Amino acid sequence: MTDSLQAASSPPLRGTIEVPGDKSISHRALILGGLARGETRIAGLCESDDVLRAAAAVRGFGARVERVGPGEWLVEGCCWRNPDAPVDCGNSGTAARLLMGAAAGFAIEARFVGDESLSSRPMERLLAPLRQMGARTEGSRLPVTIAGGGLGGIRFVNAAASAQIKSAILLAGLRAEGEVEVIEPVRSRDHSETMLSAFGCDIEVRDGGVVLGSNRKLVGTAVDVPGDPSSAAFPLVAALIVPGSEVSARSVMVNPLRAGLIETLREMGADLEESNRRTVGGEPVADLIARFSSLRGVEVPASRVPSMIDEYPILAIAAAFAEGTMVMRGLAELRVKESDRLAAMVEGLTACGATVRSEGDTLIVEGRGRPVPGGAAVAARSDHRIAMSFLVLGLAARGPITVEGAATIATSFPGFGESMRSLGARIGPAV
Ligand code: S3P
Repeated sequence: MTDSLQAASSPPLRGTIEVPGDKSISHRALILGGLARGETRIAGLCESDDVLRAAAAVRGFGARVERVGPGEWLVEGCCWRNPDAPVDCGNSGTAARLLMGAAAGFAIEARFVGDESLSSRPMERLLAPLRQMGARTEGSRLPVTIAGGGLGGIRFVNAAASAQIKSAILLAGLRAEGEVEVIEPVRSRDHSETMLSAFGCDIEVRDGGVVLGSNRKLVGTAVDVPGDPSSAAFPLVAALIVPGSEVSARSVMVNPLRAGLIETLREMGADLEESNRRTVGGEPVADLIARFSSLRGVEVPASRVPSMIDEYPILAIAAAFAEGTMVMRGLAELRVKESDRLAAMVEGLTACGATVRSEGDTLIVEGRGRPVPGGAAVAARSDHRIAMSFLVLGLAARGPITVEGAATIATSFPGFGESMRSLGARIGPAV
């Protein structure tokens, strides 16, 4: 992909798209497959840079990981061994954190490295509980070295409502002696729990927590990866803000623990229709249709953060086109994502002529119910969701938007430009 992309005011967006497989589920399918006895067959894997890092890493730990067709992968798990080289997680926090947890279960030593963005993100929040279980760790940000094996149990309170930390502890717990419990005051996405159970592990999801049972052996299985709601968010919001649009996204996962954006957009007055609800890979899935809508600003409570943690950038774009004040509370975690997303949204939206500010961990956008001026250049900050958010803004703004560093989009949504163009979006190389 060209590294600078430009998005310009577009005609009504129309058509149907398939978004990539869910990134969270793709990571888990590869890692659980790599830990399981026998063969795991994955269909619909998200073949983005982040997920390919996880595939290479699992192979480096000794598992057989083979691509047999587009989105189709075979994994044969094993007892993990010392990798020959540092485990390079690129831009992916999910790969780094889940792999660290999984590796900690084995009597091996592995060094984890990543790109500049990932190397600036906090890891201590997960290394501390892994140490409590008995792992030895070095470094609090990447590069981090983990020496594992001989782990004991843990009772961990997941105060940050982070599915990555929860999953890392559960994966380490697969090879630990003793009770492993993660308490969740606010629930985070539950894909690890669902998939561990599908791989044959005893796991109990109670009110307010998760406990591993006594049978923690994984057996390979088939995993069908549903469409990623965090990727579908971009074409759907584009349809809501480009006049005359109607866009349908097929087979999108609608797990309630990931559905905060849909709920919020509906509160804003979005015409968002769901049809053909079914189950794919143990997850609820539906086709979603978005039509251009007059949106209004609303208050989004902090309690909704875990179910739409990755969607605030694109929600803030929708808010800039809405009428009235949009208040999004409890966004402290946004500061430690692929970029400081609070700062990125305030800076980018301001450059585009929108009225926006942050107060502590609250983001406030004053919408005027009409297109924002646009006509600006915005840096992607090694953050795929920042890049896609501002390209979507450019489709409905008065002046074009250039996103610098747009190659980062491939970390979650390879083919984003082509998919959007197929709907009529004017996105292309910056001139
Ligand atoms: C993810 C969990 C979220 C999310 C990330 C993917 C996962 O991170 O932001 O993109 O797959 O578990 P946190 O759990 O750290 O909030």
